[in-house]
Amino acid sequence: MTGQPQIFREVSALRGAVARWRAAGETVALVPTMGALHAGHISLVKAAQARARRVIVSIFVNPTQFAPNEDFSAYPRTFDADLAKLAEAGCDACFAPTAPEMYPEGFSTKVIPAGPALAGLEDKFRPDHFAGVAQVVTKLLNQAQADFAFFGEKDFQQLAVIRRMAADLDIPTQIFGVPTLRETDGLAMSSRNVYLSAEERARAVTLSRVLRESAEAIQGGAAVAETVACAGAEIAAAGFALDYIEARKAESLAPAASLADGPIRLLVAARIGRTRLIDNWPV
Ligand code: PAF
Repeated sequence: MTGQPQIFREVSALRGAVARWRAAGETVALVPTMGALHAGHISLVKAAQARARRVIVSIFVNPTQFAPNEDFSAYPRTFDADLAKLAEAGCDACFAPTAPEMYPEGFSTKVIPAGPALAGLEDKFRPDHFAGVAQVVTKLLNQAQADFAFFGEKDFQQLAVIRRMAADLDIPTQIFGVPTLRETDGLAMSSRNVYLSAEERARAVTLSRVLRESAEAIQGGAAVAETVACAGAEIAAAGFALDYIEARKAESLAPAASLADGPIRLLVAARIGRTRLIDNWPV
């Protein structure tokens, strides 16, 4: 265990620390999270440490990105365990604002992303989600004024939305995506995996296995549309309620018909019991 990260609850305190680091010529990276930290988050911290002298992890369960029927109140909150993991990882600071610090009385500004936010993937099932993400990420990037910010590829559409938004709004922080960390059987690490029963957890591996096999089939010359249709049928047969499985161009998230269109990303969202899982795989 290395030293405990400094904890900041207020934007002014965060900014003070960043200003001191900058004055000392140090670079700064931000890793935005909603807490319930797992090894996937720590891999973001490690990627940030490889690029910047100082790393801040923000922990804020952002209410504006949850629909009323979603899991905002049930979302796991494990602040003490999170801090212990950040200390172990040698993280410099944790920015953990309160809801009133982020959204004080009178707050009334929205950030409405388009482009990749309207790709017909997550947005079809969570229509206001990316407006909430764009709003809080814009605030976090402005608050921290870091040189770099790191996001997981697990939320692949979110990463595309944030890249687009940072470019469109001239936000000077450079955005990096970090590959998904997986359990040994292939399940993508996610804070929501704790919702799975033992039996659901055993079946959840189907998602990554089917994605990997489909990517291999397409690389081997199988037709994209047929492969994706078979993958969807296999996921449904394993007892998932499938929201979508799609082959998209990795850059634009536009539909991809064949590898001749450039790099493809397979993206899936499916529900098992009460848990909604997402995953994606490069072709
Ligand atoms: O990916 C997440 O954990 C959240 O959507 C983020 C980027 C921290 C914004 O609340």
